[in-house]
Amino acid sequence: MAAFSADSRSTEAEWMDTEAVPFEDFLACLEDLARVNRLSLGYRPTLGFLERLRRTGRLPSGRPLRILDAGSGYGDTLRAVAGWASRRSVAVELSGVDINPWSTRAAREATPADWPVRYHTADIFSHVPTDPPDLVISALFTHHLFGADLVRFIAWSEETARLGWFVNDLHRDPVSFHGFQLITSVGRWHRFVRHDGPVSIARGFRKADWLGVLAAADIDPRSVSLSWWLPYRLCVGRVK
Ligand SMILES: C[S@@+](CC[C@H](N)C(=O)[O-])C[C@H]1O[C@@H](n2cnc3c(N)ncnc32)[C@H](O)[C@@H]1O
Repeated sequence: MAAFSADSRSTEAEWMDTEAVPFEDFLACLEDLARVNRLSLGYRPTLGFLERLRRTGRLPSGRPLRILDAGSGYGDTLRAVAGWASRRSVAVELSGVDINPWSTRAAREATPADWPVRYHTADIFSHVPTDPPDLVISALFTHHLFGADLVRFIAWSEETARLGWFVNDLHRDPVSFHGFQLITSVGRWHRFVRHDGPVSIARGFRKADWLGVLAAADIDPRSVSLSWWLPYRLCVGRVK
């Protein structure tokens, strides 16, 4: 069973990252993860960030808004962004980058070919976008990173994104940790989700963690918004 500490992030491995399984098994895990995202209103913070930019007139005019999603997994966040863009008549070019080729395959198969979304298999740190993105977004990705890699990702986002970046990740909270275990103990959930969910929460963040990362990345915390979203997402965003 996963261990939780409010004081520090767990380094326990997620099965999703470490266990080799057939594609169909991995796909079932991604589908369940997307179900968790939907049921926990996980797209709302990212869409809220985009909507604020739209309302304040910060989106580019005369060309599509380019968004890069780091660690895009099943691509469900980008499909939610595509839905938002379509409802708001915002032209977009969306790219998802994931290190796991099976994520790319699953995301492509789940996304209509005529949607403005493309997926690439690459380590985000070696990925060079053809066109620089306006925004770098990520969801449930940063808790996969620790120490220098996490600082490097934030510095990379700051350098790569023309307009800004938004991190959507988990709040390391005991209620969420135990609550998730309870909820997934009933019903049929993929075993990776049952194991990795609590581990991800234990690897998640508290405000002080992010303040340390921002300081190490040399980003003024006053230029960043740290927001808590029900239930238990802690998000970090910056508009340049
Ligand atoms: C927990 S999943 C999150 C997927 C999706 N964003 C979501 O919200 O459900 C984290 C994803 O990050 C990917 N990943 C981990 N390290 C990566 C790296 N260095 N570069 C690109 N993707 C990475 C994993 O393959 C995995 O698909």
